[in-house]
Parts: sequence; C-alpha cells; structure tokens
Amino acid sequence: MVKTKLPIVVLISGSGSNLQSIIDASQHDLPVEIRAVISNRADAYGLTRAREAGIDTAVLDHRDYPDRESYDAALRELIDRYQPGLLILAGFMRILSDDFVRHYEGRMMNIHPSLLPRYRGLNTHARAIEAGDKEAGCTVHFVTPELDAGPPIIQARVPILDGDTPETLAARVLEQEHRIYPEAIRLFVEGKLG
Ligand code: GRF
Repeated sequence: MVKTKLPIVVLISGSGSNLQSIIDASQHDLPVEIRAVISNRADAYGLTRAREAGIDTAVLDHRDYPDRESYDAALRELIDRYQPGLLILAGFMRILSDDFVRHYEGRMMNIHPSLLPRYRGLNTHARAIEAGDKEAGCTVHFVTPELDAGPPIIQARVPILDGDTPETLAARVLEQEHRIYPEAIRLFVEGKLG
C-alpha cells in the first residue's frame, strides 16, 4: 500500500541545516513530500541543499517589495501554488504580518533556539550565557501573530558548560534542533497535535 505523503513547503534564509534534517528524514520514513524550498535570500546555502535533493526552489527577495504586507502577499501566493498541508519555517529570518500568520495558523511551525518562553527574538545563546543559566535548548512551536509565542510542540534541553561561547552553545543546541524538528513534523502528520 502506498502511504500518502503530506505536502510541505519550507522557508529558509540561510544555511538550511534544519532543512537538511527534514530532507534526510523524508528520504527515510517521514511521510512528507517537500514540494518547494523558498528563500528571501539568493545566497542561502539551503537552496543548494534543496537543489541537490531535487526539490523545487524559489527566491523571493524582500528588497524587491515596498513593504511587509506586499512581500507577505506575494510570498503567500507563491507558497499556495504548492498547496502545502504544512508550512515549515527553518531559519526564515523575517517577521511575518498578522494576515500571513492567520492564513497558515495551525499549519505553520517554527524552530526557535531557546527554551521558550525564555528568550524570544534574537541572540538567544548569548542571552542565556549572560544570565548564568545552567541549561539552554530549542523549541518547535506553532506560529501565532505574537513573535515566538505560539503553542510549543517539542522542546529539547542541553547543558550550558563552563567556558561556553554563543557559538559552542549554538552547535550543541543545533544538534537537538535537527532531532526534534522532524519529530514535531511526524507528530503533525500522525494527527497527534490536537
Ligand atoms: C537555527 O538555529 C534556528 O533555530 C534559527 O535559525 C537557525 C537556522 O539554522 N531559527 P539553519 O539555517 O537551519 O542551519
């Protein structure tokens, strides 16, 4: 019996290592079909990863649009051509307008490199070290209009070690990101997220 795969679209801005973990999982037993990878930056290395995996890619540069609303409208139109059942933000470094978020609410996930609700926004690792925290981590969550505040799906924790820098901590957290993002998608596909 052929299992139906959930169509997904992945948005990136950079390296795309989380994208890679999803590509790898989809080539094993995660039942998703990555229909497209879309970047707001033409130089995002994740586009190369997608092409190497034979996935459609597109670049939609925010600098070509006068404001956030017009960019988000064009992005939404592009995404919807692929009819995804789930939209994945994987290092997509843009704040999304409320209309865009509402359109995908309940079917859009993000991964954030902190133990939310701690450290929404940027520079999470530096802030965790600075605060003297003993542990850090990452969170996959549904996206809602308030930045990094949507319902969490899975978290992973790592220790913060003496002598950690934001870079060493980021590397330790990133390993966990690569583990939990495909798992969160699996829970969604299996209908286990309510
Ligand atoms: C990850 O740390 C992710 O949590 C954050 O941006 C980074 C993206 O890394 N939102 P990559 O492009 O997946 O390698």
